[in-house]
Formats: sequence, structure tokens, C-alpha cells
Amino acid sequence: MENIRIAVQKSGRLQESSLKLLKECGLKFSNGQNKLKAQASNFPAEVLFLRDDDIPEYVQDGVADLGIVGENVCLEKEKDIKTVQKLGFAKCRLSLAVPKNTEADSVKWFDGKRIATSYPVIVKSFLKKENISAEIHEISGSVEIAPGIGLADAICDIVSTGSTLLSNGLKESFSILKSEAVLISSPKLTDYKTELLNKILFRIKAVNEARNNKYILLNAPNHSVEKIASILPGMKSPTVLPLKEEGWSSIHSVVDEGTFWDKIDQLKAHGAQGILVVPIEKMIL
Ligand code: PRP
Ligand code: ZN
Repeated sequence: MENIRIAVQKSGRLQESSLKLLKECGLKFSNGQNKLKAQASNFPAEVLFLRDDDIPEYVQDGVADLGIVGENVCLEKEKDIKTVQKLGFAKCRLSLAVPKNTEADSVKWFDGKRIATSYPVIVKSFLKKENISAEIHEISGSVEIAPGIGLADAICDIVSTGSTLLSNGLKESFSILKSEAVLISSPKLTDYKTELLNKILFRIKAVNEARNNKYILLNAPNHSVEKIASILPGMKSPTVLPLKEEGWSSIHSVVDEGTFWDKIDQLKAHGAQGILVVPIEKMIL
């Protein structure tokens, strides 16, 4: 059987979550330290371990069929690829940053300055839009040391926790782009590979739904069952089971992470007791 080839980052910010997602989608493969590729034992897929910056090009050229990469890299590389699904992890922003004692609160400050970055395409288009002309110094790594060694007045780089900036005596001045990990695909997949992509996509959605929802169980007096059912509509409708104790029911449903704490307060107000909230592993709607 022909494999669908999925490129993931070899090492760095996206790697761990990318592999975790593929494993949660049921793909079994080993990720040995120095491996360049791994065959899944239970799915016609091969995982390729590559530099994230190279992934868009490999996917465009069909060396890999799919890739997990940051939106920032996709935008910078301008390759002929399709973004299939946002993945919700490796959230970060691309920001202009300056030495911590520099006052650079408006974009105007960057006019005529030297900016070091690994994202020349994105930065140039941003500056053009803002009518700022600055000198771009493209460097491929360790951008944050550029101001300290006199190579640039400012940098534009990925900020996630902000600790890299902090430890290099820099501060964020202007965020120009938000980014997260996405699943990309080659624009020319065969029908067979499109079918495999759809299978993987179906699983990714189930994993993400599960991550955003919790299974909730509680006890409530029978007279509150209707009210509680309207607070916790669940996937179709909640399950209501009688308790051995007369006049009480057990209600089982699904609640989404975002509204969870608000709902707990409402449930308690309606006499709910013994509330259990448990993680869901997969959720298929
Ligand atoms: C980015 C950036 C910083 C770091 C910022 O690298 O270049 O090194 O992450 O993260 P922090 O705000 O949490 O300190 P990225 O992972 O994109 O690495 P790469 O350039 O090696 O692909
Ligand atoms: Zn990279």
C-alpha cells in the first residue's frame, strides 16, 4: 500500500505537540532521536522529520504530502500549498522587539532603522503597508542577539512565552502577526491520498473536539432535571438515570471547556451535587 507522507518538525517548538497529535490520531510509529523517517505500523503513513522552515517547500514539491508547521513559516515561504486545518497549538506571535531601554511605541520609530529577522517577506510587506522604510537584515537563527552585537537596532521574531526576549535584554514593541500550528497539504494529492488525508482529518477533529469538551456527571433533585438539561444540552440530549434514593437523578452530559465554570455555578444554583468532570479521549459528533 502506498504511504501518505507527513512532515513534522525535527526538533523545536512544534515537535512534541505534532507527534502527540499524530499518536492521538491512532498512528503508531517510533520517533527515534536521529531518525529522518518512521513508518506507521497500523496506517499507510510515513512520518518525515524535517526542519520546519523546509516543510512548505517539501510539501509543494510533493516530497511530503502533508505537513505540520507554523502559519508564520507558511506565510514567509510563499509556496504553493493548501492550509487544511488549524491545529490550535504552538500559538505565538511575530513581533518587532527593541532593546529594553528604547522607547519604540509607534511603528514610526522603525523608519530608517535596521531590523534583523528570519522573516524578511512578512516584515517587508508589513513595513510597506505601514509606509515605513527600514533596512532588513536577514539572519536564519539567533536573531535576538543582533541588537546586542550592533548588527541591528531592532529585531522581528517569534514570541511565545517572551522568555527569549527577556533573557536577551529586549522587549516586545509591536506584534505584526498571530500564528499557530496548521496542517498543510500538497495541492496535487492523488484520490487515494486525499482519502487518507480525510481519514486523518476526521481523527484530528475528534481529538480536538474531545480536548475542548468534558464529560460531566452530577446528581440532582428530580424537580431540577429539566432546568439542568437545558443548561447541559450535551451532544443530543443528556442521559438521565434514576438514583436509588427516591426523588433524585443522575445526569450525564458533555460541557465545553470555555463555558464550563459559568455552567458549574448555574448547576449548583439548581441543587446539583456530587459533580464529576472527566476528560474525554475522542469525540465523534
Ligand atoms: C522562536 C524564536 C525564539 C523562541 C521564542 O523560535 O526564534 O527563539 O521561539 O519563544 P519564547 O518567547 O517562548 O522564548 P522557533 O521555535 O520558531 O524556532 P526556529 O526558528 O528554530 O524554527
Ligand atoms: Zn525553524
